[in-house]
Amino acid sequence: MGCQMNLADSERIEGQLQSMGIRPLNPEVDEKSIHPDVVVLNTCSIREHAESKVYSYLGPYAKRKREGEDVAIVVAGCVAQQESEALLRRVPEVDLVMGPQYANRLSDFFEDIANGNQVVATEATHIMEDSSKPRRQSKVCAWVNVIYGCNERCAFCIVPTTRGVEQSRPLESIVQEVESLVEQGYKEVTLLGQNIDAYGRDMVPKKRFSELLNIVGNVPGLKRLRFVTSHPRYMSLSVVDEILNTPSACEYFHIPFQSGSNEILASMGRGHTREKYLRIVDRIRSKIPDAAISADVIVGFPGETEKDFQDTLDLMEEVVFDNINTAAYSPRPNTPAATWTNQIPEEIKKERLQRINVLVKEHAKERRARMLGRTVEVLVEERNVKVPTQVTGRTVHNYLVHFEGDIDKLEGELVNVQIDNCETFYLSGAQVE
Ligand code: SAM
Ligand code: F3S
Repeated sequence: MGCQMNLADSERIEGQLQSMGIRPLNPEVDEKSIHPDVVVLNTCSIREHAESKVYSYLGPYAKRKREGEDVAIVVAGCVAQQESEALLRRVPEVDLVMGPQYANRLSDFFEDIANGNQVVATEATHIMEDSSKPRRQSKVCAWVNVIYGCNERCAFCIVPTTRGVEQSRPLESIVQEVESLVEQGYKEVTLLGQNIDAYGRDMVPKKRFSELLNIVGNVPGLKRLRFVTSHPRYMSLSVVDEILNTPSACEYFHIPFQSGSNEILASMGRGHTREKYLRIVDRIRSKIPDAAISADVIVGFPGETEKDFQDTLDLMEEVVFDNINTAAYSPRPNTPAATWTNQIPEEIKKERLQRINVLVKEHAKERRARMLGRTVEVLVEERNVKVPTQVTGRTVHNYLVHFEGDIDKLEGELVNVQIDNCETFYLSGAQVE
């Protein structure tokens, strides 16, 4: 469940399970999948809804265990970190509660739980360099962590509590991982960090993210490099220059703005204003006019007036984003904003979310429409699940593209596609030579 960081952790957890001889079950073909020996939930607690899903998933396994079935239950990720021992009190059938900082240490705990002990691993720890091999979902695109944790304290956000303080990975390990990915045939790498611009500030001597971008982007054989998430307070314009200098770096930015109102931004503790955000967008577009920009935004943050919300819509009209992840504010435990008395009623949050989503879609379509008639380069990732005669890939701008093709021949290939149809969140067309 959850963000890309969690997906990357899940791949590492799966890799460790596999090296212990535990194989994944496929619910569609494996009868045993309703009676597994081990269940691992890698959980997300960014919003209350994500958290409550964990308990509904756990329910049936806990029940079977109470009825005598021998199943090891592991809860990993941010809910594990947030709840720690309390999770064992709530669901006593759980064997291991393991925070995100332990995602590459699952195997350390297995003997203990095999001996019938319950284990809680949520102490803050130094994240060791990973010697395990992730079991990656894609053969074409890979996630690579560059900085764990977050030192910001956005008033709504639980991530600093669940993922701990920033820990940058050594540059050499990152480069080695990317080189090995290229050797294995990967074409695209996405560098991951909650605040990626903070890369290297905890190191001695300090390093800069643009330096990392340059070095990784020049790994021979790497076709595409992406990175998330940029923070408007820290994003340096040298990153924009680096993208121009690095052919593999995609013209794509994910920069959450969270709100278009300066009052709300100040109470969120974001450390940037709407003007600063707009200046970043201007600089990007003046240097890379065709760049794609996506973002995250929250509606219904405590104290948000209709005027504040309107400021958010106005900012969107000014920028016209390629995509935005929208969310209604959800109060999270141990975050300042959750205790404030100026909470917004659920109906208003819901109504604002609906209104904002209409604009997100309108802009997404408008942005994609400029591709009509253009020939774009698509990195083919998989079969189109809805139309099996088609394949699916993405452009440098992170637009999904579907076109007729044979996945066995095209997987991992960079293909030129002429676009003849633009929908809200995807494009389609035909392969050209
Ligand atoms: N590190 C990133 C950043 O700089 O914003 C993203 C962190 S979080 C995994 C992803 C997004 O979830 C945030 O950008 C924010 O929009 C949303 N989010 C975080 N806490 C939230 C909350 N309490 N309620 C609603 N949305 C939330
Ligand atoms: Fe959360 Fe703000 Fe960090 S959104 S992950 S505290 S930059």
